[in-house]
Amino acid sequence: MGRILAIEGLTKSYPAGFWRKPVRVLSDLSFEVCRNEIVGFLGPNGAGKTTTIKIMNRLAFPDAGKVTLFGGQVRDGADVRRRIGFMPEQPYFYEYLTGGEFLRLCGQLCGMSRADTESRSSELLARVGLSGARGTAIRKYSKGMMQRLGLAQALLHDPELVILDEPMSGLDPMGRMEVRGIIRDLKAAGKTVFFSSHILSDVEVLCDRVIMLHKGRKVAEGRVEELIGAETLYIELVVSPVLTHDRLAAAGIPPEAGYAHGDLLVLRAPGSEEANRWMASLLREGCTIISCVPVKKNLEEIFMERIGSSGATGAAS
Ligand SMILES: Nc1ncnc2c1ncn2[C@@H]1O[C@H](COP(=O)(O)OP(=O)(O)O)[C@@H](O)[C@H]1O
Ligand SMILES: [Mg+2]
Repeated sequence: MGRILAIEGLTKSYPAGFWRKPVRVLSDLSFEVCRNEIVGFLGPNGAGKTTTIKIMNRLAFPDAGKVTLFGGQVRDGADVRRRIGFMPEQPYFYEYLTGGEFLRLCGQLCGMSRADTESRSSELLARVGLSGARGTAIRKYSKGMMQRLGLAQALLHDPELVILDEPMSGLDPMGRMEVRGIIRDLKAAGKTVFFSSHILSDVEVLCDRVIMLHKGRKVAEGRVEELIGAETLYIELVVSPVLTHDRLAAAGIPPEAGYAHGDLLVLRAPGSEEANRWMASLLREGCTIISCVPVKKNLEEIFMERIGSSGATGAAS
């Protein structure tokens, strides 16, 4: 898989005001995105995600470091724009245009033919659930509808690399699920998707790889299953019926490992060895095993751990 985007040593500060030291918002940030990956860019508000994405799109410039797109095979900004689809965090539209007119304008701006623009617009408006609002002025759109139109705009010219800044924000659970579906379809069509989010659960189920940012520094990077897979916290057994403390103890199971949840007994085995031993004893006691599930850390817990260990070294310096 070829590299489609490489970020090396990005550093950026913003002026903080007269007499005040500039505020460092990105510190020596490096990562890569490969062709046909879905990469999630995670971090709390203010971590520097939007700043990084602006730099990728040449809308802002770093104090140090560089961005290489498509292995450096881009001639100019127009070339970048043709090959990248970009949805900004707060898509700002001409509110007196209709959704359909806005897409027509975008098609013209990126040099698409009228016929192409019309057919792609219809296809994309249907895909994002806005067919019925094509002729409605954007001023009457809800936040969620604006977000969907922003997504249609980003995909209009069928770009190879799609960069989305907080594509799920402002959407209800249904809308979030639809956006996840669109991102999966893009991958299936061979595209590459890089998107930011401060909602870790959106990312966990969708991304091949994640990059976690905190105060402008990368705190973790890797395949989702590698980040969360290695760390099984415990194995949860659910059995029926509930056994008394004495019977548990007699079966060789520490009573404090379990609690009753209605008619069910929930046990936390520290490892698979204990889980196997306990299940054998429970079966001998005449219990039914309802489930046996390894419980892993989620991205949120991993993120909290990583920023715990790097938290003292804030980006501001
Ligand atoms: N144009 C700007 N001028 C000054 N400070 C800015 C500007 N843009 C962003 N910042 C600051 O940079 C930091 C990172 O912001 P941003 O990249 O928007 O983070 P995120 O997208 O992760 O929420 C924040 O502290 C923000 O206030
Ligand atoms: Mg942002």
